[in-house]
Amino acid sequence: MNETQWRVTFEIYRQKTGQPAHFDKFVMDVDPDEYVLDVVERIWAYNDRSLTFRHACHHSTCGACGMRVNGVEKLTCITPIREVARNGGQVRIEPLRNFPVLSDLVVDMSDFYLRLDDVKFSQVASLQDACLPFERKQQVREDGRYERLVDCLECGMCISACPVALTTPEYLGPGVLAAAQHAYQQSRDASLLDQVDDQNGVWRCHSAYECTAVCPSNVDPGWRIMDLRKDILRHQISKIFSRRGPSR
Ligand code: SF4
Ligand code: FES
Repeated sequence: MNETQWRVTFEIYRQKTGQPAHFDKFVMDVDPDEYVLDVVERIWAYNDRSLTFRHACHHSTCGACGMRVNGVEKLTCITPIREVARNGGQVRIEPLRNFPVLSDLVVDMSDFYLRLDDVKFSQVASLQDACLPFERKQQVREDGRYERLVDCLECGMCISACPVALTTPEYLGPGVLAAAQHAYQQSRDASLLDQVDDQNGVWRCHSAYECTAVCPSNVDPGWRIMDLRKDILRHQISKIFSRRGPSR
């Protein structure tokens, strides 16, 4: 260890199919400015080749490297060690919550992806939509911020952080509801509102905003769920008045 390095103990969640979960400890000499994912890779390369984890782009684009670091959801490829540890300290790394564990730090996200398909979420945007500044008016929020749901990484970190998803697996979850809100903004397809107007849809949210706090891409799922509620109420009210017909 040189004088610029820190000695940090990494406690890593381990679980293989059919075996009980436990934590393995690895004492590592690290550069405080290197990223958590770099150290996980080093542990795999030099200490334990059976450690399983997901990663791809290493620059906060693919959403694959989401893990819980000291109990908080992080994209580990952009989380420096100095943000989560100190010299001589510990870092606990766990898989995302609210998804079944497949192996160690890898979770099964297939239900999440299927739910995104159900609400017609498409990550493929036209060049105009994918680039700033957007020209279409509906892409600009009242506070002047641009909407960038096309940048949802499908990382699942919002689902992991959500206290309702923890107790209610049937809950559609923040990432899915945010995608539905975005799809509705784009299409004005009222069937999307009917789909999420459900006790396990928008009405299950307790407004904890943990999803918004951990989202690495400023999708702001908490705000979008509240906006979907307003869209549903507007839609219901307009249906009532359209049934009454013209006033005499
Ligand atoms: S809404 Fe944010 S936290 Fe949720 S999946 Fe998309 S990028 Fe990840
Ligand atoms: S490895 Fe792609 S977002 Fe981290």
